[in-house]
Amino acid sequence: MDFLEACRSRVDDELDRRIKSGSVSEQLQAAMRYSVLGGGKRIRPALAIAAANALGQNPDAALVPACAIELIHAYSLVHDDLPAMDNDELRRGRPTAHIAFDEATAILAGDALQALAFEWLAEAPGIEVSARLAMIQELARASGHSGMVGGQAIDLESVGKSLTLAQLETMHRHKTGALIEASVRIGALTVPGISEHSLNSLTRYAKALGLAFQVQDDLLDIEGDTETIGKPQGSDIARAKPTYPALLGLAGTRKHLASLLSNALESLQDFGPEADPLRAMADYVVARTH
Ligand code: IPE
Ligand code: IPE
Ligand code: MG
Ligand code: MG
Ligand code: MG
Repeated sequence: MDFLEACRSRVDDELDRRIKSGSVSEQLQAAMRYSVLGGGKRIRPALAIAAANALGQNPDAALVPACAIELIHAYSLVHDDLPAMDNDELRRGRPTAHIAFDEATAILAGDALQALAFEWLAEAPGIEVSARLAMIQELARASGHSGMVGGQAIDLESVGKSLTLAQLETMHRHKTGALIEASVRIGALTVPGISEHSLNSLTRYAKALGLAFQVQDDLLDIEGDTETIGKPQGSDIARAKPTYPALLGLAGTRKHLASLLSNALESLQDFGPEADPLRAMADYVVARTH
């Protein structure tokens, strides 16, 4: 997808440039670079940039906030793969951070990336102070106990249990959906004077897409192959994780995914062609093979 590829290249350059130095430990710096720069589709930054674009804004202002979101995502993956969590040894087609370095270094790299994300938001160029504050609040809420970390806690508490559909949805909306929702909202918050109505429509789009994203992730754990997905296929089944396919079966899960996609697209009906990148991102997320 052209839009995603263009975003990826700008985001990769910016991340590379920004995580060059500054750490007092070379080992920590290397682990941070390894965790952030080793591939990654950059879906969350692209969503932030696409949201700014949908509102007619020059999306340049969204670049640094978009990179800050990717730092939180990268940290969440490093910690998600740790032996105490999913205990996975492959990520983005390479050894996970705790294998390439060691566990303590991986934990610290995650910690450092999390703090750095908020530093970047606080300093984001070309954005009013009040908007920067709103973005910091948005990302903090989406990342912490009421968002991603809360969802990860539910995930770990649920190993080996069968959740109801409502419980599973709550888990997915937090562990993955919250950061995707924040990506879209943070992109929108870079636009001065955004209307409540537009922000609500974009939030509806992002909620549907955030859930769809993790539903497709669950499908790929079963239907993907390790080489293509770049992480161990079958990890969820091996660890007895509750997933959509476990509850709804493959056909039921695909049907659910299609209805989430149409909800996401419907939420954009008041937007013109400026929202085409958001529409294309939704199509991509549910059809992705990795
Ligand atoms: C994987 O996210 C983890 C989930 C939240 C399901 P991505 O599929 O966006 O991973 P990268 O960044 O492209 O590696
Ligand atoms: C990931 O869920 C959620 C976060 C990293 C916040 P998964 O555990 O399903 O992600 P993968 O499959 O390891 O990428
Ligand atoms: Mg996990
Ligand atoms: Mg995992
Ligand atoms: Mg997964």
